[in-house]
Amino acid sequence: MPSTMSTVEDLLVEQIRDLYDAEKQLVRALPKMAKAANSEELRQAIEDHLEETTNQVSRLEQAFEQLDKPAKSKSCKAMKGLIDEGGEAIEEDAEVPINDLALIAAAQRVEHYEISAYGTARAMAEHLGEDQVASLLEETEVEEKAADLKLTEIAMSLMQDAKSRGGEAEAGEDVHRRGAFERPELARPILPGHPDLLAEAAIAARLEQARSVADVLLRRTRLGLVAAPQLRTADSVAPVAEAMAGELGWDARRVRQEAEAWPEAASAEGIDAARA
Ligand SMILES: [Fe+2]
Repeated sequence: MPSTMSTVEDLLVEQIRDLYDAEKQLVRALPKMAKAANSEELRQAIEDHLEETTNQVSRLEQAFEQLDKPAKSKSCKAMKGLIDEGGEAIEEDAEVPINDLALIAAAQRVEHYEISAYGTARAMAEHLGEDQVASLLEETEVEEKAADLKLTEIAMSLMQDAKSRGGEAEAGEDVHRRGAFERPELARPILPGHPDLLAEAAIAARLEQARSVADVLLRRTRLGLVAAPQLRTADSVAPVAEAMAGELGWDARRVRQEAEAWPEAASAEGIDAARA
């Protein structure tokens, strides 16, 4: 039966109902995906995300409570489709590590769908002054982003392994190097209220040739622009430099230098933090 939606609040409740169904579908689907994973690390990542997903369901129930609405689902056809495709990836019977890469491809589609849906719902909650609801949604949005980045890391490493098995690895090349997600302190936002994670700075340094704080804040994320007033000082960006340091081998002095280079780099790009 068609429901009449006339306010942003109605729409927000509708979005949360859709997410509620999506998350519950995932709680049922993730164990199958974990079982199908060949790489131990991938299996672990999916199992960890299953646990997070269970929490995400209860966060949505808390959001319903905050909004004084019954916890009802609205069938999420998009998630059903994404999960069906994941099932096809499992049934394909591909070789190692192609099977895992196919699984990751499906799982990342799921994560991106969720990141988008939570970001939209969070913005609506903020607009309505529903701060508690906004922060519940943001907590999950951050977890989804972290899960997505973790999958990127695993995929890069699986592809690197495949390449090295093909005899292309440099002697002594550390193909198993892990970083960002062995550092749990990186699984948090660079700035509260913005879902860009410190882990993204580390990954940008490792995989995307980010070599300065400005590369991360202006070219990898847009934080340097959208949150310029909160990122005016070297101290405010020190955690970004520290996240990069783990990948680039910077010592404490270099971390300091790189953080101190930021305010100047920002003003060279025409960013006036005091007025932004
Ligand atoms: Fe989720």
